[in-house]
Amino acid sequence: MNGFFSIDDVDDLPNLIKMAKDIKKNPYKQHKELQNKSICLLFLNPSLRTRLSSQRAAQNLGVHVTVFDVSAGGWQIEFEDGAVMNGNSAEHIKEAAAVIGTYFDIVAVRAFAQLQDRCLDYSEQVLNQFIKHCPVPVVNLESSTRHPLQAFADVLTIESHKKVEKPKVVLTWAPHPKALPQAVANSFSLWVQKSDYQLTIVQPKGYELAPEFVGNAKVEYDQLKAFECADFIYAKNWSSYSDYGKILTNDRNWMVDVAKMQRTNEAKFMHCLPVRRNVVVSDDVIDSANSLVVEEASNRIVSAQTIFKNILEQ
Ligand code: CP
Repeated sequence: MNGFFSIDDVDDLPNLIKMAKDIKKNPYKQHKELQNKSICLLFLNPSLRTRLSSQRAAQNLGVHVTVFDVSAGGWQIEFEDGAVMNGNSAEHIKEAAAVIGTYFDIVAVRAFAQLQDRCLDYSEQVLNQFIKHCPVPVVNLESSTRHPLQAFADVLTIESHKKVEKPKVVLTWAPHPKALPQAVANSFSLWVQKSDYQLTIVQPKGYELAPEFVGNAKVEYDQLKAFECADFIYAKNWSSYSDYGKILTNDRNWMVDVAKMQRTNEAKFMHCLPVRRNVVVSDDVIDSANSLVVEEASNRIVSAQTIFKNILEQ
């Protein structure tokens, strides 16, 4: 693996899952050949899970890890080619990525969608510029349109709990007071479909994901119907793709609650976190024995460790 931007960088998902299961069983296995390797985690946006789980993953491998909050302690980076840099940006990505790449063996980057300009966000300008100008492999810690380490952890979680080969997985839109990117939902859809599970995406009209991320998923608009016989309910808010970045409704009736979960096949509840309790999901669902949210977050160490190991052992 020469980098990890999306599921397209995974040649053999069943084999990657098998490697992850081995790592989960034996996370502290000595990797002497990795002892002098180093990873930089660059954050242009906030994080709890990604920051801590990626650090832990590197430490488990015996790899040196540095965390850099670019927005807090770095120069403002310019991403436009040909920019006349007489404004706030003090440093161009061309030099920044090139320099960082001389210090580390992997550069991992978090850069959210701005939700202002769909073409710009979906061009993945920031991650692509890092990939272009950084001389070492780049790992996606959540970009404008994708969150692959989260989706990999989600699939590992489903693998641990599924009772049938192809469980029914429902990705449901849920309300939220702020406009959020589509990245988590996009990646979840791709990884679940690649895992050959049955995927239904249910959302209010106007919240359909981009066609390339919907793929062959079943699309529903009736949440109660979608929940019937589901084995896994994955709740997430996202803003509109068609009316880009907008909140079209905040209908509280879309919150996941016990009555809806009772329509399922005793489904497990999933969410990537952080989650707004009693907005996205009621307390009694997220606190129930069927809630997998903490296990999902814990599997973020496994997904990151598997990817870092794959890249560093090239
Ligand atoms: N799920 C996730 O990526 O969490 P953080 O934003 O806290 O890293």
